[in-house]
Amino acid sequence: MKKPWSGRFKKNTAKVAEQYTQSISYDIRLYKHDIAGSIAHAKMLAREKIISPKDSTLIIKGLKEIQKEIENGKFKFSHELEDIHMNIESALISKIGESGAKLHTARSRNDQITLDMRLYLREELNEILKLLRNLQSVIMTIVEKHIDSIMPGYTHTQRAQPVLLSHHLLAYISMFDRDYERFKESLKRINILPLGSCALAGTSLPINRHYVAELLGFEQVSINSMDSVSDRDFIIEFLSNSSILIMHLSRIAEELVLWSTSEFSFIEISDAFTTGSSIMPQKKNPDIAELIRAKTGRIYGNLIALLTIMKALPLTYNRDMQEDKEPLFDTVDTIKMTLSVMIDMLPEVKFNTKHMAENSEGGFSTATDTAEYLVKKGLPFRKAHEVIGKLVSYCISKDKSLSGLSIKEFKKFSTLFDNDIYDYIKANDSVKNRKSYGSASIEAVKKQISIFKQLLNSIPTQKNI
Ligand code: ARG
Repeated sequence: MKKPWSGRFKKNTAKVAEQYTQSISYDIRLYKHDIAGSIAHAKMLAREKIISPKDSTLIIKGLKEIQKEIENGKFKFSHELEDIHMNIESALISKIGESGAKLHTARSRNDQITLDMRLYLREELNEILKLLRNLQSVIMTIVEKHIDSIMPGYTHTQRAQPVLLSHHLLAYISMFDRDYERFKESLKRINILPLGSCALAGTSLPINRHYVAELLGFEQVSINSMDSVSDRDFIIEFLSNSSILIMHLSRIAEELVLWSTSEFSFIEISDAFTTGSSIMPQKKNPDIAELIRAKTGRIYGNLIALLTIMKALPLTYNRDMQEDKEPLFDTVDTIKMTLSVMIDMLPEVKFNTKHMAENSEGGFSTATDTAEYLVKKGLPFRKAHEVIGKLVSYCISKDKSLSGLSIKEFKKFSTLFDNDIYDYIKANDSVKNRKSYGSASIEAVKKQISIFKQLLNSIPTQKNI
């Protein structure tokens, strides 16, 4: 098959070189975006009288037919034609002849590929934004169901203070909200038209880039042609935002793994989202949550891969940049699948709220509240901390809990203790007594619910091609 660039070559490309350089096996997924970009380009060329209206009409008709052939599985892709751009352009020329040969006027594959990637990522990002909002809503349903369920809160994976299950889960809603914001904010750096930068320097032909931007729904036109064809920041930014998101997902996945152990027994994940062991008949394993946890590996890997590919590349386009595709595609697929799995799995988790509440009593988890009790009676916090430290040590030596102490015993440690201390030492009291904004108290949780519910109603409106 004749290559569009074969003019100055005397020898055919080695087969192994063709295999090594081809990207069609994976950039095939850009066909729709490539065609949409070409249609807009052809319209502009005709509008600016660079090609005739007849040529433009034939090109657009031909491209639409090619799109159908690809979608019906009738299109013959060839590795010899390297990539999606040349496969489509060659097919167009075979179909409509001379007019097809005019499509690549004032355009290069260098600006074409980054256009395709921007269109693709813009579209996928909208899907990811919707999935993120969906995940937050699923968590919100659990939050509202368990608004007043008490559980132990941890630091260093050691019991720290009683919290609310709703508050714990709202922490994830917050994380996913920042992820949402980061992705949304990045759209403005993706939604920029690079086409018309040509190979690297622009063109002497009177093209109209702003018109193409309008046709394709881009908010801006890139302002430097050399930057346009060399920039892959928008992909790196996506991989970086995805790395933060998958890190958040791995944390919730890890809690599902931990909480489903018989040691914790805080939750039970339904049979639909667990697997068995081939040797131990009693086992029910949280493999799905484990795999979510593990997906961080490939997403971080993809980020590091592209950062490494781009490092120290001289301007402008270099073929190295073709290696941006697989990390991007893999990240998009992994993130979408992981979000979908989490969305389906979370409603299938049963919370053993009674057991969680019981566990929040032990481990002197209200020691801080007890210290704050003394602060309210006028003792400086550092002193109160010491008094309670001694009290805890006393309890440990006597094998007692705080609520098991008599008022006489309390008074031995500080005369500020009164009978009302018994309103401060149950996990329930601790949650009830909290006052601060954003705290693990029912009032603060209600406030968070109302804030996030408002945000959850905002969904992206970006138009796709
Ligand atoms: N397949 C190429 C890529 O993904 C398209 C651009 C090729 N440009 C070139 N000058 N060889 O980067």
